[in-house]
Amino acid sequence: MLNPLAQELNERLEDSVAGALLSEEGLRMYFPKGIIAQSEEAKKGASKANGTIGMTIIDGKPAILPSVQKSVPSLDARSLVAYAPTAGQKEFRTVWQKQIIDKNPLLKTKKISLPVVVPGLTAGISYIADLFIDEKKPLVAPDPSWDNYALITEARRGAELHRFNFFNGKKIDMAALENAVKKEAAACSSVRLLLNFPQNPSGYSPTKSEVVEICRIIRETASDGVKLLIICDDAYFGLNYENDIEEQSLFAHIADIHENVLAVKIDGPTKEDFAWGFRCGFVTFASKNFSDEHCDALVKKLMGVIRSSVSCSATPSQSLLMQSYTDPENEAQKIAFRKILEARYRAVRSFVDSHKSNAIETLPFNSGYFMSFRLNGIDAETLRKKLLSEKGIGTISIDSRTLRVAFSSIDEDKIESVYTDIYDTADGMYRAL
Ligand SMILES: Cc1ncc(COP(=O)(O)O)c(C=O)c1O
Repeated sequence: MLNPLAQELNERLEDSVAGALLSEEGLRMYFPKGIIAQSEEAKKGASKANGTIGMTIIDGKPAILPSVQKSVPSLDARSLVAYAPTAGQKEFRTVWQKQIIDKNPLLKTKKISLPVVVPGLTAGISYIADLFIDEKKPLVAPDPSWDNYALITEARRGAELHRFNFFNGKKIDMAALENAVKKEAAACSSVRLLLNFPQNPSGYSPTKSEVVEICRIIRETASDGVKLLIICDDAYFGLNYENDIEEQSLFAHIADIHENVLAVKIDGPTKEDFAWGFRCGFVTFASKNFSDEHCDALVKKLMGVIRSSVSCSATPSQSLLMQSYTDPENEAQKIAFRKILEARYRAVRSFVDSHKSNAIETLPFNSGYFMSFRLNGIDAETLRKKLLSEKGIGTISIDSRTLRVAFSSIDEDKIESVYTDIYDTADGMYRAL
């Protein structure tokens, strides 16, 4: 039996692409008119006393241990230890929405939801999977891609992850992407596709013409009457090192591409603001002809997922980030860090462009934190172990033929020596085959 509030949200979403794409859990989800909603109401009306929320309030302020307060003197108790709203601090959400639009000018004339705060991008992906993916509703994603997509889709949601070959030479394998979308549409009559740029593990972002092609595939499929959920994992947004890369998120291109497309942007301060452990991310929705009613109903579904799992995201992270955005030096500081990453990219690029190996070959890379090697006949896990035990170098074996190196975490002056060791070790293994 569906809760009447879930029923109400489903009715509001019924005539929209979101309603047609929801998973079984998505259909069941609702945001209760319970403690949180009632205490939000009381915030406005309770002039005598607010006895709604489970916090210790002294003289109108949340109690805070002086031993906690002294570490963060510039933030008051409310900004540190009070609960944050389920969907995040309103001001923080508004500022992030403005930042998304500033970074993606195409969105200036398009409608997007107010971003919802989640405890990190992983949580955002997982929550969207809760709402839209289940045993009968698989996810399509590139091969290779971030290993957490498989964990979330297969282990957590009990759903299938359908992978498609991501590269054809130095370009995205558009034929494989198009076939995967068509196959999915034929089998399920709807498609749930996750694309992540700059990509983990390859470090690839599409060129302007590749984005045009991706949009064509999405538009044509939608025009055939197929409903599509396109999840844009923008974790590494803004870390572009080559001129031909499309600077704006795919989300900005597809936000109003067709009424049969629901676009979801998952992004956040994790990498963009160099705040990995803050556990702070955002989920933003967009779809052509999406009304405020649709947006609100979908956000309520997401709030239900948040309320039923973590209840709300951490307050200090939101407050500290908000404060950092008001600092006039904030942007210049981020640019300086991005330059350090770019210099590492250039060092890696110049090394791999001037070295040949029969054992390893780079996958296309032009952005982000990583680059990966495709291995020829040698095993990635064996190479990884050898590099660790013999050279003291840590890398990741993504699968048996793919080795990922996070140049984001290797100082520029070590890159030459680290990559020399990687090539020497791989070539040694190849010779011994
Ligand atoms: C592609 C991709 N998406 C999402 C994330 C996770 O971000 P967060 O730490 O905010 O959960 C990562 C982090 O490694 C990532 O590589």
